[in-house]
Amino acid sequence: MDTQAPLSGNRPDLSHHWMPFTANRDFHLEPKMLCRAEGCYYYGERGQQILDGCSGLFTTPAGHGRTEIADAVRDQLLTLDYAPSFTRGHPQSFRLASRIAALTPESMDRIFFGNSGSEAVETALKIALAYHRARGEGGRDLFVSRERAYHGVNFGGVALSGMVPNRRAFGPAGPRVVHMRHTFLEQNRGTIGQPMYGAELADDLERLVALHGAENIAACVVEPIAGSTGVLVPPQGYLERLRELCTRHGILLIFDEVITGFGRLGHNYAAQAFGVVPDIITMAKAITNGAQPMAAVAVSREIHDTIVDKAPDGQVEFFHGYTFSAHPASCAASLAALDIYRDEGLFDRARQASAYFLDRIEALQDLALVTDVRGYGMLAGVDLAPSERPGLCGHIVQKRLFDAGLHLKTTGDAAIIAPAFVMETGQIDTLVDTLRDVLTELAD
Ligand SMILES: Cc1ncc(COP(=O)(O)O)c(C=O)c1O
Repeated sequence: MDTQAPLSGNRPDLSHHWMPFTANRDFHLEPKMLCRAEGCYYYGERGQQILDGCSGLFTTPAGHGRTEIADAVRDQLLTLDYAPSFTRGHPQSFRLASRIAALTPESMDRIFFGNSGSEAVETALKIALAYHRARGEGGRDLFVSRERAYHGVNFGGVALSGMVPNRRAFGPAGPRVVHMRHTFLEQNRGTIGQPMYGAELADDLERLVALHGAENIAACVVEPIAGSTGVLVPPQGYLERLRELCTRHGILLIFDEVITGFGRLGHNYAAQAFGVVPDIITMAKAITNGAQPMAAVAVSREIHDTIVDKAPDGQVEFFHGYTFSAHPASCAASLAALDIYRDEGLFDRARQASAYFLDRIEALQDLALVTDVRGYGMLAGVDLAPSERPGLCGHIVQKRLFDAGLHLKTTGDAAIIAPAFVMETGQIDTLVDTLRDVLTELAD
């Protein structure tokens, strides 16, 4: 980047906005600002082009600045800008729920809306509790999660979390949660696609059932691919085994598909990519191509009907919801995004582009700084050798990459790559080459 070039606009006062998940002091020293976006590029304060290697934050598979979505949101705001979400309806939310129900696995066709992945997770936990209560099994209030899991930042999600800094800060305040082991195994190092070893790790659920009693367990919550921790792809047979055990013990299986939903793995959901149907799916991020905050929870008809049919006539059946559940502008954005995904065949395109993308990522293994590569669909993780303290290398890498014109997310010392499905082969080359150059330079 030309650091001497003038800023393209007046930089605002940075002192008042306390940024989330950010080293604020460090940001103030070296602000990494994004001022404009179009297609697969961001543009920084000096007008410099920055390739978006993470689809925003896994949000924007159709590329930035889609006019169809912008127009739909504008039209919606001028038609019906807001409608109370409790006891009043508006047509767009019902249209959208039908469209999402057509994408989810058959029978998972009841859709509850929220505004963020974290809210979707909280909603899913409450649905699980409400379902068991409605069936007269209210003793089932324990959740099973997994080490290295990320399920957002609300108290339920943090209790589920298996990522150490998140848990240490706030973990114990929330629902009761016990954890299975994560699925990273030494033998699988360097594997692209589903690793061979580790299906037996799902038997941790059986051990937890033996310890705590199935009659006390409400649900097992997993990301089908653990995304934020650095992309841990499930070992072959692992999700199938979890499904089998959940069914055997009357435990609901919740897939948190906040990252993997909407084509990231080349299928509508990970559930279809891996051929394993859960009872509840959470989704957010790409639901509007990132243009509006929104999330949804899809549940099986059986779960929905059990809760809804239990309540007396005229009584709220599920005491949960948000002022902005199914906001009209978010619904309009999502409907427009789903049109784009369908009309441009973007999930198929993701599936087709995946082989080339993952081949290029796999080749990074020869770098001194790279200790592992993993990936599936249009999602990949690259582990970097830690420097003097965990996370420092990842932090430096994401800053150097930005300066070199590439936006990526790092978690700890893992780089996470998630290109837009509309990315051209040449742009994938630039992405991987930039990563290679920066990692090579840092290793010297
Ligand atoms: C699997 C998963 N669940 C939940 C969340 C939380 O989503 P949000 O940041 O929209 O609250 C995330 C965010 O990355 C996620 O990856």
